[in-house]
Amino acid sequence: MNLPPEISRRALALRDQLNEHNYRYYVLDEPSIPDVEYDRLFRELQALESEYPELLTEDSPTRRVGGRAENSFAEVQHRIPMLSLDNAFSADELREFDRRVRERLDIDGEVEYVSEPKLDGLAVSLHYEEGVLRLAATRGDGFTGEDITENIRTIPSVPLRLRGDNLPAVVEVRGEVYMPKEGFARLNRELEARGEKTFVNPRNAAAGSLRQKNPRVTAKRPLELCAYSVALEDESLLPDTHWDCLQLVKAWGFRINPQMGRGPGAEACLAAYDALLTQRDALPYEIDGIVFKVNSLKLQRDLGFVSRAPRWAIAHKFPAQEELTEVLDVEFQVGRTGAVTPVARLKPVFVGGVTVSNATLHNMDEIARLDLHVGDTVFIRRAGDVIPQVVRVLAERRPADARAVIRPETCPVCDSEIVQVEGEAVARCSGGLYCGAQRREAIRHYASRKAMDIEGLGEKWIDILVDQDKVQTVADLYRLTVDELKTLDRMGEKSASNLVNAIAASRAPELWRFIYALGIREVGEATAKALANHFGDLGPIAEADEDSLQAVPDVGPVVADHIVRFFRQAHNQETIAALQAAGVRWKTLEVAAGGAQPLAGSTYVLTGTLSGMNRDEAKAQLEALGAKVSGSVSKKTTAVVAGEAAGSKLSKAESLGVPVMDETAFMAFLATHQQA
Ligand code: IVH
Repeated sequence: MNLPPEISRRALALRDQLNEHNYRYYVLDEPSIPDVEYDRLFRELQALESEYPELLTEDSPTRRVGGRAENSFAEVQHRIPMLSLDNAFSADELREFDRRVRERLDIDGEVEYVSEPKLDGLAVSLHYEEGVLRLAATRGDGFTGEDITENIRTIPSVPLRLRGDNLPAVVEVRGEVYMPKEGFARLNRELEARGEKTFVNPRNAAAGSLRQKNPRVTAKRPLELCAYSVALEDESLLPDTHWDCLQLVKAWGFRINPQMGRGPGAEACLAAYDALLTQRDALPYEIDGIVFKVNSLKLQRDLGFVSRAPRWAIAHKFPAQEELTEVLDVEFQVGRTGAVTPVARLKPVFVGGVTVSNATLHNMDEIARLDLHVGDTVFIRRAGDVIPQVVRVLAERRPADARAVIRPETCPVCDSEIVQVEGEAVARCSGGLYCGAQRREAIRHYASRKAMDIEGLGEKWIDILVDQDKVQTVADLYRLTVDELKTLDRMGEKSASNLVNAIAASRAPELWRFIYALGIREVGEATAKALANHFGDLGPIAEADEDSLQAVPDVGPVVADHIVRFFRQAHNQETIAALQAAGVRWKTLEVAAGGAQPLAGSTYVLTGTLSGMNRDEAKAQLEALGAKVSGSVSKKTTAVVAGEAAGSKLSKAESLGVPVMDETAFMAFLATHQQA
């Protein structure tokens, strides 16, 4: 078929536009057109290429969806070996590295180092000829890798064509392919929903995705590339420093790490290590340390290599977030709602900066999914402040006397039957408040800071009071006397009287605290506030049916069902009556007929200092009118209330065109709505 010249020009223009948008979106994080527009251009190019196959070029963005043949995974010899890095595990080892560098170079002063986060992914090598991506390979053993070009093409942050003029005829860029934390979590959720095997960590997920035979699968995986080095046939064409090399690579259209830094000597490196370690959990990707590289390429050449690693670089490792340990036992714990949760007792292991000796196993389905036995060796992961997880069992290390985990038939605390509702993963003790564990948890919740906020009534005392049968339900708390408490081990006269006073002080709670304190399933702080503001008193909530409950913002069918069931249960009604008999009187709120809330659906932000009331009071008044009070200003903010010395939130409101009220205006505003 004849190829009309205007068609070639259009295809070229589309390719350029799409590559440009892609770069802005994935490398600069600054999208310049809406997704639908991108899709439209993309489909236009796809259509042209399928009509005129001779139009298809190697740098066409349509290749990113993994269109062409399966991967060959043919062997690729690395012209320059892909080395690994030596590790330093302490500040002293890092100082020792710096000392060796200076000694070898015979330098008295400080050497300048570049620091880069050590991304936890896979090293890849990308070859460009005349600016076009021709070959991508894995590291392999450092000398021979595998051809993964078709898979690499699917990664949006990999340039298919380098940007700019004066491009070298041939150039090799190296970097790390990784999967950001969020994409990893999403991928595992999807795999789990399809009943497929999940990945242990983002690194394995990245590796598994890159080694897919079918590039279409890789195309769906949220992979990214961060470049960290460049090699040219003719080294004299490179800038003088590693830092400038990376700026060059950036100009060609690669993502480089935004957390990079440079500074003189070991002390600058150690400061960079400390700074990065504090940011670790907040970064969108996993890192296992920080890499320091001598900045001057001349000094790098002078230093050279030892066996498999350069003498001019070192990786200073962070504490590991994964470890192996043994499952000593699996026990079953009973929570406030009776949920029976299996917990693995582990041989203590240091991971993610703390010693871990327990890990939740969630439910029996999870145990089945992991195929976990007592005696197994398991992979424990603790990243950030997330609770430790068992991510995998090393079946090959299972001892002969390992035993399967069997859920008990009856509650380990009260011996009541354990029931599991069809279709629910959670098993529950049927003992209700008869069950000591549920009683204990119910009382803990009732006394907690966000609920009735009873100071001094911590877990330790609750355990003792429940164990010695001094309290059966929360209402019994109000009957405790100083004389009775004094008899408890380690409870003196003074603390007994403080505790009795603190319990007494909780007799007049705000309505929402009382609702939250009841411990209704799925009713958290926000829902409790919404219910309080809508109904104004407990009686109407207890009497409401599912429909009227769902009129409350935040309450859906599931929550409404839990609320109705809660108030239907005789023992819950008895507990509330007993609390009232003990003198508990929650504060009711004035609500307009039908629970109308004039400010429902609006969001306010408070900033600066008000002279007439403190911020909590202002917040409570707004919430009583049905408004939400948020901590940050966005386009969705209804208005900002700005007191004295309001700062960045006020300027943000002004820049977004969000209305601002001063204190006088706010007081008038409240008065109008409270009368309404
Ligand atoms: S430089 C000769 N820079 O760490 C220098 N490596 O243990 C070799 N890595 O295989 C690599 N982030 O997969 C370098 N900023 C970074 C890195 C990095 C992660 C990985 C890479 C390499 C391994 C070496």
